[in-house]
Parts: sequence; structure tokens; C-alpha cells
Amino acid sequence: MNTPSLDHYLVVGNPIAHSKSPFIHAEFAKQTQQAISYEPLLIETNNGAFTQAIQAFQAQGGKGLNVTVPFKQEAWALVKQRSTRAERAGAVNTIGFDNQGNSWGDNTDGIGLVRDLTKNHGKSLNNQRILLLGAGGAVRGVLEPILQEKPACCVIANRTVEKAQTLARLFTDLGDISASSYTDLAGQQFDIIINGTSASLQGELPPLPDDIIPLKRGWCYDMMYSAQRTPFIQWALEHGAICARDGLGMLVEQAAEAFYLWRGVRPETEPVIELLKQRLRDSLSASPQTLPPEYSGIENRPEPTRFGDWEKSGRCIDF
Ligand code: ATR
Repeated sequence: MNTPSLDHYLVVGNPIAHSKSPFIHAEFAKQTQQAISYEPLLIETNNGAFTQAIQAFQAQGGKGLNVTVPFKQEAWALVKQRSTRAERAGAVNTIGFDNQGNSWGDNTDGIGLVRDLTKNHGKSLNNQRILLLGAGGAVRGVLEPILQEKPACCVIANRTVEKAQTLARLFTDLGDISASSYTDLAGQQFDIIINGTSASLQGELPPLPDDIIPLKRGWCYDMMYSAQRTPFIQWALEHGAICARDGLGMLVEQAAEAFYLWRGVRPETEPVIELLKQRLRDSLSASPQTLPPEYSGIENRPEPTRFGDWEKSGRCIDF
């Protein structure tokens, strides 16, 4: 019996060593019996290195790749065709090559967030008042799929209000979307609050009014995840949220969508989310002595890590 030859995929970024994507895609491949390899590749951040690396990979017969910090915008500029959601996001996290040698780019981050909320947590976004915290690439990347769920309204709050205003203008044709300062949120309440700021990376919280969550009804979602409650999740639970979830499911769901785009097969995400949760729990109980040698000198406490951004901190303990 012939063994099928492997199709090759990469995840590229800088840094990349801590990426969970190789683990996630290996699990998907096992589960769906797809003959693929999926490797991390560190790319230097000097001019042109990203383009050269991608072109070389394609020339060697590579089938596709995931792109993470800081190359998502470069990937957007590089690909020949972009999906509409990637076009709007201004960033590409998934690239594929077709048989004619053309590259296409998509952004699966937003659909990952929406699926985690709707499918995994059973929370519909339809007709909900949604507040998004932050106006950087993380929030821009998820806006179109969120607006497609037809929320009642979507407010973007940011420390630098002008950035929120610019972002809201970019999506204004897709629904009721507006910008706000944190101060101007006083007196308002939202059904769902999504944290897309990088505040937790500095152990901080966006300055939200104490009564912004409708008691026993409001949901909160953090694009960060951690073995322990993120500062935002902790705050949400102390301020009346009926449910507060972190972004681990989003990480797995965006990977599942990329896998589907490449392979035409949809993997089950739940068992992979459970495996990752277990590994996070294990990392909490691991003593410094039991950590692999490459982690020596790293604080033995998992940092909150933000989806798509966790490589940036370079301090999270990965597996
Ligand atoms: P990314 O592209 O990954 O989203 P970014 O562009 O650096 O990263 O954006 C980070 C976001 O987190 C911004 O919205 C930032 O607010 P400013 O635009 O005002 O800088 C927000 N942010 C970072 N630290 C914060 C803090 N301590 N409190 C509130 N917002 C914070």
C-alpha cells in the first residue's frame, strides 16, 4: 500500500517558538486523517525576509501557511487574492497556493471568535448590544464577522478615541457601529463586552464604569487566555457578568477554519480545546524543576496571553 505524500504547511511569525498552532493542526490532522506536516518557522523582521521566505516555501511545493505577529499586514499586501473579510481586516492570517501558482489570503480570526461564542458557548450575537474594547489590529480583525451576526449595535471604545473613530468609519456600511471614549460609556450597558486591548499584557484593565454589565444578564469575552482567570475575566465576574469566557476557543476555532480552507474538511474543535485546557491546567501545577530546560529563567506562572498576540509577549509558557 502506498503511503500518501505529505502536504506541507507552516506557521510563520517572530517570535514563533511558543506557537500552539503546530499542536492544534497535528491534532486536527490526526482526527481527520489528513496527510500533512505543519511546522513553525521563525522569520527575521528585516525588510523583504517575509516575502522571500513565503516565495521560497511556495517554490518548494508548500501548500499554505498561517501568519502571525508581526507579519499579518505584510501577508495582506503579498497575496494575489483576498477574501472580503481579509480585505476589511487589513490583515491576513491564512495563505494558500492554488494549482496555477496563485496565492490567496484570508483572515479567520473573526470567524474564530464568533464560532467560539455562538457554537461553543451558545451565545448569539444577533440583536445584542456589543461593546468592543480597543481599536488595534485585534479588534479590526474581528469586526466584519461580528457585524454579520446583525447585533443591535456595536460600540468601539478606545483610550485613543480617534483610532476607534477611524475604525468605526471603515465598517459603517455593515451595521450600527460607533466609537466612544471610556468616559462616555458612563450610564450605558451592553449585553456583550469583548476585550481586544493589550492591557492585560501589562496587568492592566481598560477603565470601564462599574455598572456597565447588566446584572445576571451580561456576557464578557476576553481575546486573551490564561491558565488562570485573566484580569478582565476576573473583573467581569466581580461586576455581575453571568458568563465570562477567555479566548482559548477562539484560537482553536480560527485554526479550524484555516484547516477547512486548506483541506475542505472541518475538524472537531471541542476535543482539541479540552486538550489545551488540560495542558494549561498541568502547566499551573508544574514545578520549576519539571519544566523543560528551555523554560529555565521564565517565571513559573502562566501569563495571560492574548490570542494572536501571545507570541508578542514572548513570556508565556507554552507546551
Ligand atoms: P493589536 O494590533 O494587536 O490590537 P495594538 O495595535 O498595539 O495591538 O493595539 C492595542 C490596543 O490596546 C489599543 O487599542 C490600545 O489603546 P490605544 O490605541 O489607546 O493605545 C489598547 N490598550 C493597550 N494598553 C491599554 C491599557 N492599559 N488600557 C486601555 N487600553 C489599552
